[in-house]
Amino acid sequence: MAYFTDYEALCDDLSAMTEDVPYISANLANTAAYLYENIEALNWAGFYVREGDDLILSWFQGRPACVRIAFGAGVCGTCLRDDRTLVVPDVHAFDGHIACDSASASEITVPIHDKNGKVVMILDIDSPVPDRFSEADKEGLERAGRIIEGFLNRE
Ligand code: SME
Repeated sequence: MAYFTDYEALCDDLSAMTEDVPYISANLANTAAYLYENIEALNWAGFYVREGDDLILSWFQGRPACVRIAFGAGVCGTCLRDDRTLVVPDVHAFDGHIACDSASASEITVPIHDKNGKVVMILDIDSPVPDRFSEADKEGLERAGRIIEGFLNRE
């Protein structure tokens, strides 16, 4: 089954929801909640924030998850190391995948950058549906990533 998300509307809503808010933490919490509520068939959506070369669990919706992920470990650590979006159609086939919720079957991770281009957090979204994330989801979530970077890096 294919899923359709109207990322144009979703990104407009994300921009409107975050643009007048001066609190980065509130914006990240609401972004995780908004993505989780408005994209079909998810079991987890949230952020891992970089501390040194590790990633630490931060704002999310879904089941409790692993707290620390090392550079290069799992899908999130690989996304950090490679600085590119990863679409994983079958998490069980991904070498080193970290299973936080046994319901997760597929996953997408998007790197989020500071104003110097350094990866400072990972947007991580999981689905219980195998092969849930299409090219349209990748493009849409990268677009959402640019909005997140907008409020993170606001002067
Ligand atoms: N599966 C991720 C870990 C985080 S949970 O999905 C929330 C990974 O392999 O990096």
